[in-house]
Amino acid sequence: MTVSDPVVEAVVATVGRSATEIRRGLVGRRGAADGENPSGETQAEADVWADDLLAERLSSIDGIGQYASEERAEPLGCGADPGTDSSSYAVAVDPLDGSSNLQSNNAMGTIFGVYDAALPARGETLVAAGYVLYGPITTMVVATEETVTEYELTGGERTVVERDLAFPVEPTVYGFGGRVPDWPDDFRGYAREIEDELKLRYGGAMIGDVNQVLAYGGIFGYPGLESRPEGKLRLQFEGNPIGYVVERAGGRSSDGERSLLSVEADELHQRTPVYVGNAELIDRLESTLESGD
Ligand code: AHG
Ligand code: MN
Ligand code: MN
Repeated sequence: MTVSDPVVEAVVATVGRSATEIRRGLVGRRGAADGENPSGETQAEADVWADDLLAERLSSIDGIGQYASEERAEPLGCGADPGTDSSSYAVAVDPLDGSSNLQSNNAMGTIFGVYDAALPARGETLVAAGYVLYGPITTMVVATEETVTEYELTGGERTVVERDLAFPVEPTVYGFGGRVPDWPDDFRGYAREIEDELKLRYGGAMIGDVNQVLAYGGIFGYPGLESRPEGKLRLQFEGNPIGYVVERAGGRSSDGERSLLSVEADELHQRTPVYVGNAELIDRLESTLESGD
């Protein structure tokens, strides 16, 4: 099933086709590269390689005016400026999410967001977002203004496995990042309640953890920490795209106070606390953090 907007369809098809190659290309690229990403984190060889591959292919799509990724300090201009030319979009990519899982051979992902604005931009300007999950099967979830669709990817082709993907009504699993002693007291209180209600599922790659929450219902969070109140995840490349997918599927997203999609975007690599899940669980989290219990 293709996406109606031809530029978005070209992005989705390009990411889907590249996923098979990225998965194959992980072999032999599990070591550390020489550099650091703009967030100051050591890059894996696969981070850099996947970023170069996606930059070249996505920036050559007609209608894409900017390519940005968590591996690059600045956006790559590649056509009409999305800020002034309404027919031009910007694409923001996390080429390999959870690349620390390369060493342990656990799930990883590729995340993309298509913004109808120059970057950095608020999530409300997204027209589509999605992710590839490199699990036992390579799957891709794509959210647009119309719907959320899950595909299986084989040999560069994508086959629909679920249309109008919706959040399960009953929450089942949770996963919270960061170390417990580094959680602020109010979040820790909330986490203790959730631990008594749901099953722990945390794999160290946001995409693997979020996909479980979409499949089984529940909540994923990477909270603001005592040591780093802004949290770890990046708004443009992780928070906004996942917030968009989850909200299109009938869940909620939050930075602890409001939808991730309404968080002001000041810097390309700004971090934000990220919470996504069933609406009731997110509502409860926000009132807990608000009251500071
Ligand atoms: P990335 O590999 O793109 O930097 O993302 C890693 C992120 C995210 O995928 C995951 O939720 C989080 O880092 C895990 O952090 P911890 O290792 O602190 O659990
Ligand atoms: Mn990531
Ligand atoms: Mn990454």
